[in-house]
Amino acid sequence: MELRAEHICHTFLQGGQRLEVLKEVNLTIQGGYLYALQGRSGSGKTTLMSILCGILAPSGGTVSMGDTVLYSMKDSALSRFRGAHFGIIPQGQSAVSTLTVLENVMLPASISGSCGGAAQRARELLDRMQISDLADVMPGELSGGEQRRMAVARALMRDPDIIFADEPTSDLDAGNTEAVLQILKEEAKSGKAVFVVSHEDRISEYADVKYDIKEGRLLQ
Ligand SMILES: Nc1ncnc2c1ncn2[C@@H]1O[C@H](COP(=O)(O)OP(=O)(O)OP(=O)(O)O)[C@@H](O)[C@H]1O
Ligand SMILES: [Mg+2]
Repeated sequence: MELRAEHICHTFLQGGQRLEVLKEVNLTIQGGYLYALQGRSGSGKTTLMSILCGILAPSGGTVSMGDTVLYSMKDSALSRFRGAHFGIIPQGQSAVSTLTVLENVMLPASISGSCGGAAQRARELLDRMQISDLADVMPGELSGGEQRRMAVARALMRDPDIIFADEPTSDLDAGNTEAVLQILKEEAKSGKAVFVVSHEDRISEYADVKYDIKEGRLLQ
């Protein structure tokens, strides 16, 4: 399994101005490694992650996994592909507030219709994240650290090939930061590719490959 991004460029229109966020970015993501992406606020980290994980079509360049070229697929096929291969932890709060913690974790399985054994798997993941006692609570009643761990559990629900995490430890204390990074590292060791956007200095201890993004270019 290998995700390949080639010649990625991206331009946003912002307040009537063209904003060139990514300029000719090339990157390969392989199973078994934890990749860290750092860079200042506004440097294009979320933009790049969104392009890599099939959420945002780039202005130029291609993203492919094996023979599959992501943005040449129809939206419905791309969305199925994303659900089957990628676990995504978006930046900020991403829980569905009207569903319980357990239902949130099960959501990727519910959406894809693959519900068999989903509740049990979701419970096992909550147990691994040490929040199993919160299964029936609403996400609004969780602490920041508990919400992050719930988001990690949800991303792992369908056993993805690649985990994408955008600032998964922002606003967490040292203990929770360590716990979340440790779980992501274990996933990389078990053979998944893990791509983490982070400002956290401690990410250095966990990352196998570190990238910096500056003026639209990726530096290793
Ligand atoms: N939908 C959009 N339309 C226009 N401009 C955008 C859009 N999304 C992001 N931008 C701009 O593109 C640039 C890169 O944004 P991006 O969200 O990728 O940054 P980031 O590195 O993730 O920042 P942060 O660390 O604050 O999350 C910023 O200048 C931002 O203002
Ligand atoms: Mg961001």
